[in-house]
Parts: sequence; structure tokens; C-alpha cells
Amino acid sequence: MKFLGLTQWVLAALLASVAVTASPVAPHDLEAMLETRSLEEIRRSSDDYLKFALKRHLPGLDFKIPRSYGGYISVNATNSADERQLYFFYTPPESDVGDDDVVIWINGGPGCSSMEGLWQENGPVIFPYYAANTSVKPYLNPYSTHKAAHAIWIDQPGNTGFSKAGLEIQGYGGIAKDFSGFLVNFFKEFEHLQGKRLWLTGESFAGAMIPYIAHHIYEHPKYYNNRGINLKGIHINDPSWADNTYMEQLPAFEYAKHYQKTLTITDAELAKVERKIKKWGLNTFVEDHLKYPPKGPIKAPSGWNSSVYDVWGNLLSFWNGAHCSSVYDITAKCPSPLDPLGYPLDAASPSATNIFNNITGFKAAIGADPNRTWVECTSDNWVDIGEALPQASVMPSVIENSERVIIGGGDRDVLLLTNGSKLAIQNMTWSGHQGFQVKPSGVLRTAAGQRGTYHNERGLTFIEYFYAGHMVPQDDPAAGFKTTKYLLGQIKKLSNPSNTS
Ligand SMILES: *[C@@H]1O[C@H](CO)[C@@H](O)[C@H](O)[C@H]1NC(C)=O
Ligand SMILES: *[C@@H]1O[C@H](CO)[C@@H](O)[C@H](O)[C@H]1NC(C)=O
Ligand SMILES: *[C@@H]1O[C@H](CO)[C@@H](O)[C@H](O)[C@H]1NC(C)=O
Ligand SMILES: *[C@@H]1O[C@H](CO)[C@@H](O)[C@H](O)[C@H]1NC(C)=O
Ligand SMILES: *[C@@H]1O[C@H](CO)[C@@H](O)[C@H](O)[C@H]1NC(C)=O
Ligand SMILES: *[C@@H]1O[C@H](CO)[C@@H](O)[C@H](O)[C@H]1NC(C)=O
Ligand SMILES: *[C@@H]1O[C@H](CO)[C@@H](O)[C@H](O)[C@H]1NC(C)=O
Repeated sequence: MKFLGLTQWVLAALLASVAVTASPVAPHDLEAMLETRSLEEIRRSSDDYLKFALKRHLPGLDFKIPRSYGGYISVNATNSADERQLYFFYTPPESDVGDDDVVIWINGGPGCSSMEGLWQENGPVIFPYYAANTSVKPYLNPYSTHKAAHAIWIDQPGNTGFSKAGLEIQGYGGIAKDFSGFLVNFFKEFEHLQGKRLWLTGESFAGAMIPYIAHHIYEHPKYYNNRGINLKGIHINDPSWADNTYMEQLPAFEYAKHYQKTLTITDAELAKVERKIKKWGLNTFVEDHLKYPPKGPIKAPSGWNSSVYDVWGNLLSFWNGAHCSSVYDITAKCPSPLDPLGYPLDAASPSATNIFNNITGFKAAIGADPNRTWVECTSDNWVDIGEALPQASVMPSVIENSERVIIGGGDRDVLLLTNGSKLAIQNMTWSGHQGFQVKPSGVLRTAAGQRGTYHNERGLTFIEYFYAGHMVPQDDPAAGFKTTKYLLGQIKKLSNPSNTS
């Protein structure tokens, strides 16, 4: 069913009030129902989305979380009982602000749980890193996405985080089909969200998956529109959207120069690499090729590839000895903080010390399977079948079909470089032109001052964050939040010295 028009709402409301058993079309007032019945009773007796309602007191927290829903929904659009189910957590907006928009967040990997985004980046409650010999101090996040939209975090593809799946998924196409199947079932359960403006957002490897998911939905407009899925655009931060030649190799030397002190690279080490790569022009590649408008195709130097000389790897080898370095945020300080999701950050094996596995009752309280050991990242759920990354395949058409697309880059991330996304944009043709025609110069500001730059042309916005690494909303929460509001069209520019407007 599509979004109901006003007369249909009135009609449906009338029908609901005469027929006692009719399923409701408008959101329930759960708080009012809770005055007379327990949440358990409501969940047991409900055949609609209230069965996903969560308690507002979670074990381990001494404050109430905003009203939220969590649980499992199948990826099979024609069989909601299919065992392949994705875990989701959903927090509606607290006011009318954002009631027209649904924002979904997914993390990367493939196989990294979106619980990282939910509980450490842009969810209603943050479990921050903490210092040794202290304890983690969770807090309510003033920059949670639910302050701007209906916010949903999904563990996908199957077998990621709390999600369950039997089969190995084939390629981005397989990921897109499963995810879209989940969406169809999700919007069936949460009927009042049908027709609202939908935005897919995420970071890292989500930058490879999200454009393919969007492409799949845009390729079948009638099928998805009829099911209330009204996709408007995407937002990917520090994304694996283009090949590593762009994202690591070509901009590596200028990155090392820019952050030479932070990366503890000596003048002699830098000079040694420069002597090696000068003949290919790789010491000044960004400066020489990043032009607005572009001067033609941007080609990697002939005779060079990363097997001939690994620029990025060689430069990083000088830095690896440095104390407390993190590839996700090269400015991380000593001593290394502890991560309540389990250390090391992307462990592929369960850690005894994380909030999900060691706060008794936490998993059940958020609607996750208590028998499942949560792991931040797993790798046994996806098969790479060699599809081209979005920059060289689906991205132009995704931008052309969207109201707005944002690509972001946190400069302190040494895994996927901001200058790499800039080069990749300048070598991509969408809406009739190659690259941006005008040099990005818009100022991204928050109450803390300038935090980066941004630029928008022909439906694509690029944002550079000066004070963030790989996890933008975690590293610069106000800047990350403003960007979400900009995506949704709630603010028209990013230059106001304010955290919200
Ligand atoms: C969905 O479930 C039906 C019934 O079990 C099955 O025939 C179909 O193959 C499944 N579809 C997918 C995409 O797995
Ligand atoms: C913190 O605790 C660890 C043991 O868990 C100990 O080795 C270390 O010395 C302590 N550090 C401080 C500053 O007390
Ligand atoms: C990006 O490239 C430019 C050269 O065009 C350079 O001046 C700048 O320092 C680079 N920035 C980073 C973060 O690498
Ligand atoms: C830029 O695009 C052209 C095609 O227009 C392609 O031949 C070239 O390899 C691309 N550059 C990079 C660095 O991938
Ligand atoms: C890299 O370049 C070398 C030398 O030209 C060539 O032998 C090799 O096949 C290339 N590797 C890739 C992955 O293209
Ligand atoms: C989780 O477990 C670790 C040890 O296994 C303990 O140090 C930590 O306090 C526990 N955290 C919570 C919130 O229970
Ligand atoms: C967890 O395992 C127990 C014991 O095997 C079982 O009784 C229970 O139903 C399981 N819970 C879920 C949610 O699968």
C-alpha cells in the first residue's frame, strides 16, 4: 500500500473505529496504552509493529532511551517466515521535525555490524571509548539521527552482527536483493512509514553496497513504490565506492606530506619514496590532476601500478611503529582507549568484553537473539564476484535518479583518502558532464568554527571533514548531524556557525 492521501486517512480511521478488529493505519500511542497494560502484554497480543516495541529501561543504563523498536525481519519479500532475517533497531523522531523522512544507516565490512553506528556514531545512546582503569559512561546523544528523521540501523548482509542467514550472498547484486526484500517486509510491518522519503546512509564498505542497493530499487520503480518504498537519495562517508588506485595509491604521497608529523614520517623517509615515484609523477598527482572542470580523463601513470610500487603501503610502513596509531583516526592519542564494543576494533572473533555479550539481558532487551554471540565484523557472509565498484558502474545513474547524493570524507582516515574521492568524482561523468565544474570552496561550519568544506553540483554533494577520521559522526558529531539535515533538505547550507541550523 502506498502512502495514504488525506481522504483515505479519514476513511481508514473511520473504518478502524467501527470495526474493532481492523488493524490500525496510524501510529499507536504506545505511551497511552502502557498506562493500562504492560509492554509484554502489548507485545504478546499485537500482530503489528507493536510486537517490536522495546522497554525504555535497558540493562546497564541508568536513564531511559527514547521510544524504540527492535527485532528480526525476513529478507524474503514473498515469504516473511523465511529463516534469513536481518536485525534492525528503529527510533522514531520525538517531534514533527523529521516525520516525513526515514534514514537508514549501515556500517561496512562487508560483515561489520551496524551496532557500531547505532551505539557509537549516530544512535540515541552512545557508549564511548574510555580510558583504562575507568569505566564506560553511556550517554544520550544530542546528535542522534532520530532528532532529524525516523532512524533505523540494520545489521546486513545476513550473518552480520545480530542478523541470521544460511546462504552466502553473491556479490553486490545479491546484497541489494536481500536488503530490498527486507525493506519490503519492514515497510509492511511499519505501515505508517510507507511513502515517506527514504534515505540510505552509511560508511566505509557501505559505500560499495548502498549505491548497488539504490540502483536495484531505482531499476524497479513500480514494484518498490507500490510497497511504500520512496527512495530519495544516499549518503556515504569514507566510502569504498572507487577502486584503491584512487582511494589509496594516487593521493598517498600528498597525504603523507600533509600529515607528515602526525604520521611520524621523517624527511629522509619521505625523500626516499619521492625518489622512487617521481618518474611517474606520483609525488604531485593530486595537484597535477585535480582540476575544475577536469581537463579530460584522469589516467594512472603508464608503467606503474600498485604491484610495481605500492606508494601507500611503503609510506604506511614508516608509521606503523608509532604509538597508539589507528588507521581510522591517525590523530588518536596514547594511551589507546578501550572500546566497549570489544577490542580490537574489527576483531573477527567474539570479545568477552563488550556491552552486548556481557551486560546480562541487554541483547534480549533490544530484541536481539540472546543466544547469538555478537561479533563486530565477520567475513563469512559474502562472495566477491568481481563487479565493478560504484564509481565505475552504478553511481552516475544513482545520482541522476536521486534528489540528493552525498559523498563525505574524513581527512584523518588513512584507509580511504578524501583526495581519492575527489579524484574519483572528477573522473566520473553524470548528468551530462564530467566531474565538478567549479572547485569546492563552500565552508562547513558548526558552533566550533570551520570543520571542513563542501560543494554541490548536479545532485551530488561532496563534503570534506577536517576533524574526522573514518567514523565521521563519532569523530565530529555536530558536523555529521548537520550533514544529515542537509541531506534531508532541512537546512539549505552548511556554513552557519550553528550545530543544528
Ligand atoms: C522465498 O521463499 C519462497 C518460499 O519458501 C521460496 O520459494 C523463494 O525461493 C524464496 N525467495 C528467495 C529470494 O529466497
Ligand atoms: C590500569 O590497570 C592495569 C591493569 O588492568 C594496570 O596494569 C595499570 O598499571 C593501571 N594503570 C594505572 C594508570 O593505574
Ligand atoms: C590533497 O591534495 C592537495 C593537492 O592538491 C594537497 O594540498 C592536500 O594537502 C591534500 N590533502 C590531504 C588531506 O591529503
Ligand atoms: C578514468 O576514466 C577513464 C575512462 O574515462 C579510465 O580509462 C581511467 O582508467 C580512469 N582513471 C582511473 C584512475 O581509474
Ligand atoms: C602491473 O604492471 C606490471 C608491469 O607493467 C604488469 O606486469 C602487471 O601485470 C601489472 N599488474 C596488474 C595487476 O595490472
Ligand atoms: C564487561 O566485562 C568486562 C570483563 O570481562 C568487565 O571489565 C566490564 O566491567 C564489563 N562491563 C560491563 C558494563 O558489565
Ligand atoms: C536460546 O537457547 C535456549 C536453550 O537452547 C532456547 O531455549 C531458547 O529458545 C533460545 N532462544 C532464542 C531466542 O532462540
